[in-house]
Amino acid sequence: MTQDEAVHRNYRIAIASDHAAVPERQALIDYLRAEGHEVSDFGSEPGEAVDYPDQAALVSRAVVSGEADRGILICGTGLGVCMAANKVDGIRAATVHDTFTAEMARRHNDANVACMGARVHAAAAICRMADVFLDSPFDGGRHAGRVDKIMALEQDAPVSS
Ligand code: RB5
Repeated sequence: MTQDEAVHRNYRIAIASDHAAVPERQALIDYLRAEGHEVSDFGSEPGEAVDYPDQAALVSRAVVSGEADRGILICGTGLGVCMAANKVDGIRAATVHDTFTAEMARRHNDANVACMGARVHAAAAICRMADVFLDSPFDGGRHAGRVDKIMALEQDAPVSS
């Protein structure tokens, strides 16, 4: 991403983690608040074992309700929270594992939730990926129709057994 393409705005960001990522989530929250973002922290608390789908649901519902502009979820791998978040209508969650995938999740997929793994990345890398995710615009154009097709999958009738 060139400097011309990066757009820094202050966002309302909903953040949650499970017990595998409490220090990393706290470091990320401090970092993003220092950057000027408004952060809603949905936990979990230190020493509390939680189920990552519950954390994913809290953040996803904040995003689809419009209470937050973007969501960030951290678990051990970034995988479970992503699977759960994508079950919520209106969520396009992406597990990002470097600044390239963080950028592409926005530019090509218009992701509204970034998921990361605290057993994969240190806090500094998580902050950097979050920065890139937040500052990257959606490219639109040919990508818009593809994102529309993703969202159309939510409208499919349930498959009967
Ligand atoms: C918790 O032990 C772990 O399973 C969770 O953080 C996450 O990695 C699941 O995908």
